[in-house]
Amino acid sequence: MEKRKILITGASKGLGLAISKKLSGEYTLILHASKKESFTHIEPGSHLLCADFSDAEQVANFCKQLKKEHGDDLYAVINNAGVTYDKPLNFQPEREIDAMLNVNLRTPIMICKTAMKIFGLKNTGVIINISSVVGESGNAFQAVYAATKAGLAALSRSLAQEAAALNQEHTIRVLSVSPGFIETDMTATIPESIKDKYLNMIPAKRFGKVDDVADTIAFLVSDKASYINGTNIHINGGLI
Ligand SMILES: NC(=O)c1ccc[n+]([C@@H]2O[C@H](COP(=O)([O-])OP(=O)(O)OC[C@H]3O[C@@H](n4cnc5c(N)ncnc54)[C@H](OP(=O)(O)O)[C@@H]3O)[C@@H](O)[C@H]2O)c1
Repeated sequence: MEKRKILITGASKGLGLAISKKLSGEYTLILHASKKESFTHIEPGSHLLCADFSDAEQVANFCKQLKKEHGDDLYAVINNAGVTYDKPLNFQPEREIDAMLNVNLRTPIMICKTAMKIFGLKNTGVIINISSVVGESGNAFQAVYAATKAGLAALSRSLAQEAAALNQEHTIRVLSVSPGFIETDMTATIPESIKDKYLNMIPAKRFGKVDDVADTIAFLVSDKASYINGTNIHINGGLI
């Protein structure tokens, strides 16, 4: 039997890379990063589809290519690529605000639009959007980032309802997951004093590992999770 095909955005490192390693073997992967040179590891047999998600024209071409080259057998989309620039809003340059809005929210919306078209024709498919704990809790110096992540959770809940309204068989699932503090490049530059503060707030008394998220995604994307839809799953050691 043909393997199901899954798109993972932001798969060059961190969570996306861990998710690609976890899903490889069982699925055929379409791996994305901003450019080919970003990859230091590519799972054998994977397709590559690169684009800078801060650039609307590149996003439009990416979506066209996704539909044209993989539309026939696309099974799932993991919208994982993301970027953060942490600082007080009154000091945040407009280009950083635009980059976070475009990479973290506008692009996943455009990819969801493409996926919903593809899945609607087949009445089946799964979308998982990577939100964040701060989308619910808020966080000082991450106001725009938190707003984009809250947006992804709302987008997912709404699309799950929309899919049910438009498709009779109700077999399209849309979810978000909200990781807490996971050890990746994105969190590596946080000052030790702030990391200690976070650690004290986590009942599990450790930061998350990329596999904590990858294992959850592997379950959620599978048929074992067929009754989980339109919700947001927290992976944060009990932080909230
Ligand atoms: N780490 C955490 O604690 C944590 C917590 C909650 C949520 N998250 C979310 O989880 C996701 C992955 O985070 P991570 O920690 O794994 O981040 P990461 O290690 O910094 O990796 C980010 C990925 O996104 C891609 N990306 C960044 N800017 C891009 C752009 N302009 N165009 C296209 N691709 C771009 C990167 O590709 P290039 O290598 O080509 O730049 C890379 O593959 C993000 O959405 C993040 O917000 C992370």
